Amino acid sequence: MNFIVEPSAVRNATVSVPGDKSISHRALMLGGIAKGRTEISGFLAGEDCLATLGAMSAMGVSIEQPEVTRIVVHGVGLHGLRAPSAALNLGNSGTAMRLMTGLLSGQSFSTVLTGDASLTARPMQRVISPLSEMGAIIESNSGLPPLSITGRFPLSAIDYLLPVASAQVKSAVLLAGLYARGTTIVTEPAVTRDHTERMLAAMGAAIEVSGARVSIDGEQGLKGCQVTVPADLSSAAFVILATLLAKTDAEVVIKSVGVNPTRTGVIDILQSMGGDIGLENQRWFGQEPVADIRVRSSVLHGRVVDPALVSLAIDEFPVLFVAAAAANGQTVFSGIAELRVKESDRIASMATGLRALGIEVDEFEDGATVHGGSFCAGTVPSNGDHRVAMSFAVAGSVATGAVTIADVAAVNTSFPEFSECMSSIGVSITATGESRQ
Ligand code: S3P
Repeated sequence: MNFIVEPSAVRNATVSVPGDKSISHRALMLGGIAKGRTEISGFLAGEDCLATLGAMSAMGVSIEQPEVTRIVVHGVGLHGLRAPSAALNLGNSGTAMRLMTGLLSGQSFSTVLTGDASLTARPMQRVISPLSEMGAIIESNSGLPPLSITGRFPLSAIDYLLPVASAQVKSAVLLAGLYARGTTIVTEPAVTRDHTERMLAAMGAAIEVSGARVSIDGEQGLKGCQVTVPADLSSAAFVILATLLAKTDAEVVIKSVGVNPTRTGVIDILQSMGGDIGLENQRWFGQEPVADIRVRSSVLHGRVVDPALVSLAIDEFPVLFVAAAAANGQTVFSGIAELRVKESDRIASMATGLRALGIEVDEFEDGATVHGGSFCAGTVPSNGDHRVAMSFAVAGSVATGAVTIADVAAVNTSFPEFSECMSSIGVSITATGESRQ
């Protein structure tokens, strides 16, 4: 499937984007090992979270989906999971694989985890190392999936300093920590998204957070709870940028978006570039802060982006590269080497695609300098990466002619309604060819 995006006139609108991917995964996993019922509303029914749903079901958790975005998980308790009858295929999802590896490390059975071509090329040693130290036996293909995990109970608690800032690795160690004897401590080099910590606390776990250090007591059970999933700021980011770049005066409101401070780096960066973005109607969905986001078309200016914001905007760099390309002057991104091991090498994917649209980019190992300009018509590869595909769709909306984005089926992993949502604000986007089943 390809997207064809034509120069567009974004109009005033109020829109919703789907539920948060990180929170939807966690609600399924934590709800599955909690006692009792976890009711999830606003669930993201994208391919990644459905892979987690399939994996939890395959391990004996009964899960109902009375509506596309409403899920009821009948938790089996800390020790209630059963060995699945076959390998668990987690598709494209790094979050599913890394968090699941933590969860499976504490089980008294063995499991094999695998995934698609992108996922089986992503580094897993970062979870294998701490989980092996805790007592799990994990075999891999030289640090890459498939992973064969032989769990153990109880695991040994560890005091672990993460070598890279990663919420996935932190969460994997915390999930294993539930099955450890003693107190497990994780310290991060930079604060990352804390949805696991917040949900564990909401489910009754004794967990302490102090800056970048988290500690959790082992051998404690969780209680099922109600989870209302906020809209995903990472998906909202595409609507935000399309509105900021609009050539006409446009104002768009995105409803009930998660604004957890460990996720809002993208708003800070776009505001520092001159973006008119305001948060309204701030409130709570359980333990997570949400707001309606009001965006007005703006003139953006290039910036040297503060590397301290990287872990708070880790998934938004593809769209920020497009913002930089449309801004006046140069934007310098540094400290973003982690982007090279996401669903694609996102520094290379964005540099290649931007050059195809006439933008000058100097790429270096852990960043890039993007020289602002204007996008010409052209064809851009997505490299099978959902966020790369959606970012270039935003570029297409302000290009001088049609932009074709190739191989966009992966958009279904995180934002299945992307083209409908962009159309609703006036972006002229057509999906052509087969969508994957
Ligand atoms: C996620 C954490 C981030 C992010 C990913 C989702 C999560 O990965 O890129 O899309 O849900 O924990 P890292 O923690 O590896 O940076």
